[in-house]
Amino acid sequence: MEHSTYTIKKNRTENSDLSRVDWDNLPFGKVFSDHMLVIDYDNGEWGTPEIMPFKNLELHPATSAIHYGQSIFEGLKAYRTVDNEVAIFRPDMNAKRFAESCKRMCMPEFPPELFEQCVREIVDFDREWIPKKEGYSLYIRPFMFATDDYIGIKPSDAYKFMIFTCPVGAYYAEPLNVKIEEHYTRAAAGGVGRAKTAGNYAASLYPAKLGKDEGYHQLVWTDAKTHEYIEESGTMNIMFVIDGKLITPAEDADTILPGITKRSVIELAKDWGMEVEERQVSVSEVIKAIDEGKLTEAFGAGTAATIAQIKMIGYKGKHYELPSIPEREFSNKVYRHLDDIKEGRTEDKFGWVVKL
Ligand code: PLP
Ligand code: COI
Repeated sequence: MEHSTYTIKKNRTENSDLSRVDWDNLPFGKVFSDHMLVIDYDNGEWGTPEIMPFKNLELHPATSAIHYGQSIFEGLKAYRTVDNEVAIFRPDMNAKRFAESCKRMCMPEFPPELFEQCVREIVDFDREWIPKKEGYSLYIRPFMFATDDYIGIKPSDAYKFMIFTCPVGAYYAEPLNVKIEEHYTRAAAGGVGRAKTAGNYAASLYPAKLGKDEGYHQLVWTDAKTHEYIEESGTMNIMFVIDGKLITPAEDADTILPGITKRSVIELAKDWGMEVEERQVSVSEVIKAIDEGKLTEAFGAGTAATIAQIKMIGYKGKHYELPSIPEREFSNKVYRHLDDIKEGRTEDKFGWVVKL
């Protein structure tokens, strides 16, 4: 383990829930490990990080995050390798994105090196909670929210940073039917779509529910102005293979979450000599490519979602069935390869994995 720069207070529970876990039935995000990490921010500085038994929080009814939404989070995973080591996937990327979310939401920047250390230490403290089964992992949820008890509108002076973890299996149990959204908007230029902030998810719930009522697992968001360009999905970035090229919406617009899984897929594709295009992707281009048989693969990329195959796209009331999933050479290969890196079956030549 790397040298610790910050002192972390640690208090182990005397009532572990570990023996009560049903490891063969792990619904995503409903099973919580024994401990959580908490740091309070007040008077312009971060307090001492503390790992303590998992418990409910007590909050003032005027806690400003509840009213005005200064609330951000991250999601990353730890894996048990074939050599029974613990591997965390690219925590430096989450630390950096978290700091960017802080800035956009007018919250004090959380030091990336402290973020990484806290992630390592909470995972190490609850390492028995990392599932031993292939395809399973420990989902790590760092988050931070405003804690002033004040109902005026202003950036809070006090904040709470926390991490808890959950042993999880797959987020999506089956290939996805997605609907290209033509009316509702997740994020507009100049808004907060690039930040991993709570309100982005709240805003997506109602349109996603309407999509679910029509039989879609997820929506594919389009740009707020014209709804002609594809952005991302509710829990993952969107990628296509068209004419043998990997194509995905560029994230230079401030409306798309800069995904770490997507970045990793792009880096692998380039390493394998595949042509990659990060640019505007129009809905009409995708529909035309499906019609002409040039779109061979469509999938989502995300930490919880992993590589989630898309089997059908709905657009303007029409259902476009996509090519057979077992025949999708690139996405099946990249899915296996990412798992092999995380679980230590193949060389981590990019240095993505942090081992404990
Ligand atoms: N887009 C959204 C809206 C997400 O919630 C996520 C999940 O974190 C992603 C994309 C994928 O990002 P990452 O691969 O970093 O998990
Ligand atoms: C993640 O992949 O970390 C996400 O934010 C998605 C969430 C639905 C669990």
